[in-house]
Amino acid sequence: MDDDDGYRRKAKIAVVAMVVLASMAVFALFVAFAYYCYIRRKVSMRRQAQKAEDANLNEKSDFANLQVVAEKGLKVFTFKQLHSATGGFSKSNVIGHGGFGLVYRGVLSDGRKAAIKFMDQAGKQGEEEFKVEVELLSRLHSPYLLALLGYCSDNNHKLLVYEFMANGGLQEHLYPVSNSNVMPVQLDWETRLSIALEAAKGLEYLHEHVSPPVIHRDFKSSNILLDKKFHAKVSDFGLAKLGPDRAGGHVSTRVLGTQGYVAPEYALTGHLTTKSDVYSYGVVLLELLTGRVPVDMKRPPGEGVLVSWALPLLTDREKVVKIMDPALEGQYSMKEVIQVAAIAAMCVQPEADYRPLMADVMQSLVPLVKTQRSTSRVGTCSSFHSPKLSPGSISS
Ligand SMILES: Nc1ncnc2c1ncn2[C@@H]1O[C@H](COP(=O)(O)OP(=O)(O)OP(=O)(O)O)[C@@H](O)[C@H]1O
Ligand SMILES: [Mg+2]
Repeated sequence: MDDDDGYRRKAKIAVVAMVVLASMAVFALFVAFAYYCYIRRKVSMRRQAQKAEDANLNEKSDFANLQVVAEKGLKVFTFKQLHSATGGFSKSNVIGHGGFGLVYRGVLSDGRKAAIKFMDQAGKQGEEEFKVEVELLSRLHSPYLLALLGYCSDNNHKLLVYEFMANGGLQEHLYPVSNSNVMPVQLDWETRLSIALEAAKGLEYLHEHVSPPVIHRDFKSSNILLDKKFHAKVSDFGLAKLGPDRAGGHVSTRVLGTQGYVAPEYALTGHLTTKSDVYSYGVVLLELLTGRVPVDMKRPPGEGVLVSWALPLLTDREKVVKIMDPALEGQYSMKEVIQVAAIAAMCVQPEADYRPLMADVMQSLVPLVKTQRSTSRVGTCSSFHSPKLSPGSISS
């Protein structure tokens, strides 16, 4: 009996000991896990702090770059300087209004004329766009791109100072409006071809001569500016083009470009390549050929969307003449029209892969423009003003 009791007591002690040991083991495990979590949290907090510090440093170094660039070429203006250049930002000097804000005509202290864009988008997003524009434009130089002369970033005022283009945007001549700041001129065939070539050279520079390539994203007739001799330069290739895609408000319009110019695959999937710009270029080529805006729902059914209406006619030798701008009054030869129409048709192909590179477009246009210049078919109609003969037509 005693043996039995003793055995039971020992067994009880053993069970209690095992329970105690197991509890201690669980407790130890719990403590170890809690410690592990604590350490992990600490490490991740340290990493986050490091990341924030790195980002801060990058921002600082970007800004430092900005200063270096500014010293190399861009002029940093004070708000006061630009205030006096534009006559106190007077209404009479407003020459346009776009997504960035009002555009003023101004005269700089060295006597140069300039177009000054006053950013009206406050906040971080606007600042980011401004920074991208300055950093990008200060690195890109081509006779076919609008030059940034300088900028001002003073007391929350952000302004961009560009070279002045006396004949404003291409759209102002293709579709004149009564309150235009420039005197609209009927663009003849030769000038339209040379504008097409120069704009192609601008895009080709962005796509082929810059690494990584810059995608314009908002190529349209109002972003082709014309100087006093109607030479074309591509503008607004810096605003929001390298920025991250963000949804909402004005930015989504920028990201999606402008109605009528946006390549279908970009509109549908947001997938952006240089071929999206080629599509937009094709739309501008169609505007030059037809004198029609990309979207005009006041037109008869089937004619409202320029690409849908024109595409089936572009490759039909008999019908292509029907799409031509009546204002051109037959200054072109059929051979030239067929060639330009074929280029336009390829550029606006719904399938991005079928569209040509801008380098190909440029090469195809070169001989046409040369031919035009040597044979000079301008001025066949007395009502047609040759823009090359007209003086800088900006109204003062
Ligand atoms: N460098 C310039 N020289 C002369 N006129 C200019 C210049 N830049 C802009 N403009 C005028 O200001 C107008 C508005 O230009 P802005 O680029 O702000 O807007 P947008 O091209 O109409 O639209 P977005 O903001 O989408 O580019 C142009 O159509 C043009 O008439
Ligand atoms: Mg513009």
